[in-house]
Amino acid sequence: MRARAVVAATAAIAVGAAIGGAMWRRRHREPGSYTQRFRVQIPRPLITRRLLFELLDAQPGEHVLEVGPGLGYYSLSVAERLGPKGKLDILDIQPKMLHHTLRLARRHRLPNMTASCGSVEALPYRDEVFDAAFLVTVLGEVNDPARALRELHRVVRPGGRLVVGETLADPDWVSPQALQRLAAAAGFRFERRTGPRLGYFSRFTRA
Ligand SMILES: C[S@@+](CC[C@H](N)C(=O)[O-])C[C@H]1O[C@@H](n2cnc3c(N)ncnc32)[C@H](O)[C@@H]1O
Repeated sequence: MRARAVVAATAAIAVGAAIGGAMWRRRHREPGSYTQRFRVQIPRPLITRRLLFELLDAQPGEHVLEVGPGLGYYSLSVAERLGPKGKLDILDIQPKMLHHTLRLARRHRLPNMTASCGSVEALPYRDEVFDAAFLVTVLGEVNDPARALRELHRVVRPGGRLVVGETLADPDWVSPQALQRLAAAAGFRFERRTGPRLGYFSRFTRA
């Protein structure tokens, strides 16, 4: 009887700590630090590069923006797809992430990648310059996601694409419904989604 009470109390404390931790993170959003980069290396069965390519539909010669590339898990393959006439701009709030990704791009002989340090909430680009933009497991770390989406809407050309990837393995997960509401408010039209709620890419068109 006593053992059962101890187990129940331990479970209640663990659940409480998990909920409390999640709420704290929501109120104190911050980018995952470079020292926690092992997080980026975990397997991603639901948000694969192949699925991203399918939704982003990047064509050789296009100009694409990736926000929050981290260690470049998706960046290198997208830059390769864009070819020598295309261009991938990567923007991250942490310079270390950019240095890491650029180093990899140099090693893979991909000169079509340009990096800028800054926040997605105030993008350092002119209006309507990108054919497409994407961000994977980034939006939940941003202080003002509504403003971030308005900025993305400003820099993507009319008819251009926005692809957002999220996974529940990330503590800052954004649900597909919350994303759709934010994106619609910023002027994006929802097109389609891959995968279940717990790991998905959503594609939008810039109206
Ligand atoms: C969890 S990592 C994801 C990295 C990569 N997209 C991936 O899937 O492997 C989140 C990235 O977003 C960046 N980030 C967080 N807040 C940001 C902001 N406001 N503006 C630009 N980048 C941001 C972080 O520095 C980090 O590189």
